[in-house]
Amino acid sequence: MERQLNDQAASLRKIAWERGRHAKYISVSSGKGGVGKTTFVVNLAYALSQAGKRVLVFDADLSLGNIDIMLKIPAGINIRQYLAGKAKLEDVLVHGIYGFDVLPASSGFVELADLSEQDFAKIQQVFVTLDNNYDYIIFDTGAGISDSVHKFVSMAEIVIAVTQPEPPAIADAYAFFKTAKQLHSIEKAYIVFNRVDNDAHARKVFENLAGVAKKFLNLKIELLANMPEDPEVKRTTKTQKLLSLVSPQSPFAKGISVLANRINSL
Ligand SMILES: Nc1ncnc2c1ncn2[C@@H]1O[C@H](COP(=O)(O)OP(=O)(O)O)[C@@H](O)[C@H]1O
Ligand SMILES: [Mg+2]
Repeated sequence: MERQLNDQAASLRKIAWERGRHAKYISVSSGKGGVGKTTFVVNLAYALSQAGKRVLVFDADLSLGNIDIMLKIPAGINIRQYLAGKAKLEDVLVHGIYGFDVLPASSGFVELADLSEQDFAKIQQVFVTLDNNYDYIIFDTGAGISDSVHKFVSMAEIVIAVTQPEPPAIADAYAFFKTAKQLHSIEKAYIVFNRVDNDAHARKVFENLAGVAKKFLNLKIELLANMPEDPEVKRTTKTQKLLSLVSPQSPFAKGISVLANRINSL
């Protein structure tokens, strides 16, 4: 009963806020960790900003957030201090990193993994405040199907799961789609296959997943992209460089650039 009321309150809040919002909200999630969410998010943000869009990335992986590490943003104030009332929003916001802005999270603070309603309301207010300044706001959510992950998914109109086209990862992605459908009644979601070395195989895996999701969840899943396995990704992660900036001709960067165009046309 309480859960139901919470859900109702959440959807009412969402409707109120969605009216008149300017930015497009994209959530990027996955069933399991380490599949390439953060890599995907930062390169997508860069590609969209190169196309003239104003982009904010929110490191919504609140306990294991690492966008700051990936982009070599000096450790500073993060959303945790803001939630504790110890910092202002302007102090947390990192401007103009590679052409887009970032709201960093705080790696290793487990208490943030389970956002309270109060903290979530405060975070949601951040986006109400910042909405007009951006064309895209992208959430790099944690892995899995926790409440916190889904709180961010509930704000997004473009719901993306990143996964690898292998059975365990697919099963996890399916679990994610299932909860997304149950909690947010979405009609459509998107999948990105990462580390693909065989397009035809990935296509087949996609057809299967999409068929099952349609049949059992009444959810339409679209394949946004097959992102290739690319050694340049690993190299740039190690050196904390932004792949699309330093290796724009690499297969992954080219794929991201095509995908950014596609997102722009959604
Ligand atoms: N397409 C790819 N080709 C090669 N390595 C990749 C690819 N995508 C991600 N990786 C590597 O996988 C690791 C995990 O990526 P990351 O983006 O941090 O995943 P997540 O955010 O889902 O935990 C990183 O070391 C990254 O360099
Ligand atoms: Mg990550």
